[in-house]
Amino acid sequence: MELSEDGGSLYERLTSGIRTAIVEGRLGPGHLLPPSRALAAELGCSRWVVNEAYTQLAAEGQLQTRQGSGTRVTAHPTRPKPDRAPTTRRAPAAPPVVADLRPGTPDVAAFPAPGWTRSLHHVLATADWEPSVFPQAAGTQRLREVVAAHLRRVRGLAVEADEVLITCGTSHGVSLVARVLAARGVPHLAVEDPGWPRLHQVAAAAGLPTEPVAVDAEGLDVEALTRTDARAVLCAPAHQFPTGAALSPARRRALLTWAAQHAAVIVEDDYDAEFRYDRRPVGALAGLDRNLVVYLGSVSKTLHPGLRLGWMVPPPALRQPLLDALDTAAAGPSTLDQLTFARLAGTGGYDKHLRRVRKTYRARRDALVTTLGSHAVIRDCGPVRGIAAGLHLLVPLPSALDDHTIVEHLADRGIATAALSGYTTRHQPPALVIGYGRLAPSRAQWAAEQIAEVLLDQLPTPRSGVTG
Ligand SMILES: Cc1ncc(COP(=O)(O)O)c(C=O)c1O
Repeated sequence: MELSEDGGSLYERLTSGIRTAIVEGRLGPGHLLPPSRALAAELGCSRWVVNEAYTQLAAEGQLQTRQGSGTRVTAHPTRPKPDRAPTTRRAPAAPPVVADLRPGTPDVAAFPAPGWTRSLHHVLATADWEPSVFPQAAGTQRLREVVAAHLRRVRGLAVEADEVLITCGTSHGVSLVARVLAARGVPHLAVEDPGWPRLHQVAAAAGLPTEPVAVDAEGLDVEALTRTDARAVLCAPAHQFPTGAALSPARRRALLTWAAQHAAVIVEDDYDAEFRYDRRPVGALAGLDRNLVVYLGSVSKTLHPGLRLGWMVPPPALRQPLLDALDTAAAGPSTLDQLTFARLAGTGGYDKHLRRVRKTYRARRDALVTTLGSHAVIRDCGPVRGIAAGLHLLVPLPSALDDHTIVEHLADRGIATAALSGYTTRHQPPALVIGYGRLAPSRAQWAAEQIAEVLLDQLPTPRSGVTG
């Protein structure tokens, strides 16, 4: 791969180099790009840079990444039609996904359709619309009231409806915050490493490049943060993604002290606060100091990520700039969805749904943890991590193995998982990140067996057997 000598980061040059090669036809439809590991080694950069470039181009529709069949150029829609008949060369079909264990998505089949439908009917039947013409940028009053009540009760946030802004989800919230902070001269956003790259891309696209800060068993390394010149940080204190760490009480205090001393902003991603199993609920950081924290939440983990419905509680000083940003972005969730969700939550249907799915997810987690633990090759790598909350867990792998390779071998067996190294810029011991939200307990044994078999196949020296 040749990179231009023009300015810009390696990520930018790589992204634009591949894009140009596609547009100019040097990389044709179906062309298989090198695995990120190989390309990173060739370019002498971290694999993260290559993954980011591939993700960006996939988001643009230029590349297609399929588990098991690598990253390929898609048919490019803006390209001029060729004079001759198109070649019949096709990308080989990816093996079908039998079990999708990638983290991130809840069991959307558990969506409370009857309750949602009843709420929608109620909204339509009572013509319960507000306002009558254009939606308010802040969101409907009814939903803001319901969200404020929910956050007071469940997240310990002393918040009133007027302080809540309705968004299209956490990503939308991060984009708005990034825009406002960039306009105020904040140079970059510190982010957790490992972390969810989507939010980092969203912040960067809104004008706020990100700077990774390490995470350990106590969550974000606040001491490392204080050594940077960051004046804004994005973190998930209640349940770090993907490690599952909860920010320790000492770190929570240290983080707030840092923000107060540097007039900095903490952006709190409270993405799956509703799912706690073995530990007491960890209150929202914003509950400790509303002036320092922008609180973000959504229904993406609890109901459906496709709803694009979320909320933000900014510090009072940032409320108006964020409201202006919402207004000028001229996009928000549909009023109909807002009122339907408000009706569902206001009549107790949302709490009922949460109680039901929490039980389901807990049973799924228990089944997976137990079956993983029945295999010596998995047990030998140390305890499965991040199991106390959320919808995913981390399976440490033998240090001799590469987690991306294991993910590829599992994909060959129809099991989609994620590699910890796909979420980080620095070297981490290899681990699989497995979402169990959609894994029925009856399938857990099979999934654990597949993982154990792949590990045994890949380990350099033979081991005694699959089960221990
Ligand atoms: C770490 C993290 N934060 C937030 C979200 C939710 O984002 P959104 O509300 O934009 O769907 C997710 C969803 O997968 C996530 O993994």
